[in-house]
Amino acid sequence: MNTPDKPLRICLASPEFAPLAKTGGLADVSAALSLYLHRAGHDVRVLIPRYSRIEALGLDIEPVEGIASMHINLGGADLNFGIDRTTLPDTDLPVYLLRCPALYGRDAIYTNDPDEHLRFVLLSRAVLEMCQRLEFAPDIVSCHDWQTALVPLYLKTVYAWDELFRATKSTLTIHNIGYQGMFGAWTLDQLGLAGAEYHLHQDDLKEGVINFLKTGILYADLITTVSPTYAREILGEDYGMGLNNLLRDRADSLVGILNGVDYAEWNPAVDSLIPANYSPQDMSGKVVCKERLMLETGLDVQADRPLVGIVSRLVGQKGFDLVENVVPALLEQRDFAVTVLGSGESRYEDFFNWLKTRFAGRAGFYQGFSNELAHWIEAGADMFLMPSLYEPSGLNQMYSLKYGTVPIVRETGGLADSVEQINPDAASGTGILFRDYNPQGLNWALNRGLDLYADPALWTQLVANGMQMDFSWERQGTRYVELFRQLGQTS
Ligand code: ADP
Ligand code: GLC
Repeated sequence: MNTPDKPLRICLASPEFAPLAKTGGLADVSAALSLYLHRAGHDVRVLIPRYSRIEALGLDIEPVEGIASMHINLGGADLNFGIDRTTLPDTDLPVYLLRCPALYGRDAIYTNDPDEHLRFVLLSRAVLEMCQRLEFAPDIVSCHDWQTALVPLYLKTVYAWDELFRATKSTLTIHNIGYQGMFGAWTLDQLGLAGAEYHLHQDDLKEGVINFLKTGILYADLITTVSPTYAREILGEDYGMGLNNLLRDRADSLVGILNGVDYAEWNPAVDSLIPANYSPQDMSGKVVCKERLMLETGLDVQADRPLVGIVSRLVGQKGFDLVENVVPALLEQRDFAVTVLGSGESRYEDFFNWLKTRFAGRAGFYQGFSNELAHWIEAGADMFLMPSLYEPSGLNQMYSLKYGTVPIVRETGGLADSVEQINPDAASGTGILFRDYNPQGLNWALNRGLDLYADPALWTQLVANGMQMDFSWERQGTRYVELFRQLGQTS
């Protein structure tokens, strides 16, 4: 591990992995990061649950000899499980699938079922069981979000006896501190800590709570999060969601690395999902995309009317209470259209359904999940709106830049790290940022976008600025490798 060019052995465990299992950006990132590491010559083994939705994808899946049938008892829960193998479509990256129909044979990736903790305890145990049986001694076990955040503790307790893991370091990547995996202390026995329970946060336990993400923060050898600004923000009360003090204690081991973009998938020049391709050299396809998008999402087809796009999980984090406050009034005042793709909390779904009816022809809403429509909106809209309350990294604003769709974002987290404020006098910058999370901020930003759009020469330059930006994994991924190597040099 200390040899600079020696390939690293990396085991990556994640609850999401695109395109096999996706609810949000975690899926894109865990897949693209793994692929980057694999292509850089490292030995990468990915483990994700074999959710029932994976069956519909028609992948070639083979049981893995020696680990196709295993058993574990977790505090009275007797679980039979096995590990199968496939590859990430169109690549040779091995992806291991944790098969346990009793836990993963459900429609949703995440549930509110009473055994939700167990679904991810098993994932966290299975990743180490798999390494043992494959005699794969990882340099790094890369964990993602609360669902795999117990792995660092398992390595330091339940599996500490095993020489195989002598040099293994664990990393925990926090994609979103708003989701911590908090369960009642009654789940304690089912964590399978075998006498090492005292390592859990004792004050929490007294209060009857076990917090998976907190446990990961306590025991991971390195904590990363998905942008430098978010890494700073979560050290404070406003963004730390109760974990800020703990993170401060571990600030020396906390690093922010902005997410990357997989430009093989998100690039208007090669995107096979959109109605017409285009590039900075020839933008004519973008108008085609806009007209088709307007048509398909029930808008009046009017190519010169500014079109604002949104693709999002419809949850509080994403700033929809501001949208509710600002967008209807602005649609009364100014001539523009908005088209939205998303699903989530019913209050926001109801709002967008109402908006669509109230402003028929100028407001569109597709309620649900559609990767194809997400691409269409990136390509067809003029502006992309992300007024997030907080945004650890955000991917859509980076996709938007590549598609020549000017992002309008709140200045927080990865949005602040990837969008540069437009300066009309210098024709510089790539998007519009507003700082204060209030309706006036969003109102200002949207009006500014509409005003700038009215100056075609300036707009063309701003669009070109954004399209030149490079957030590829080839750039961001090297930071992970550097950090992984540095970890190997620590004892
Ligand atoms: P988050 O992970 O918080 O949801 P990101 O911006 O990192 O936010 O990533 C969101 C990803 O999920 C993007 O790839 C986006 O296109 C996708 N996405 C979100 N909602 C939908 C939806 N309803 N249909 C299709 N893709 C969606
Ligand atoms: C999270 C964050 C988002 C980030 C994604 C991938 O869900 O909300 O900002 O881009 O994870 O890291």
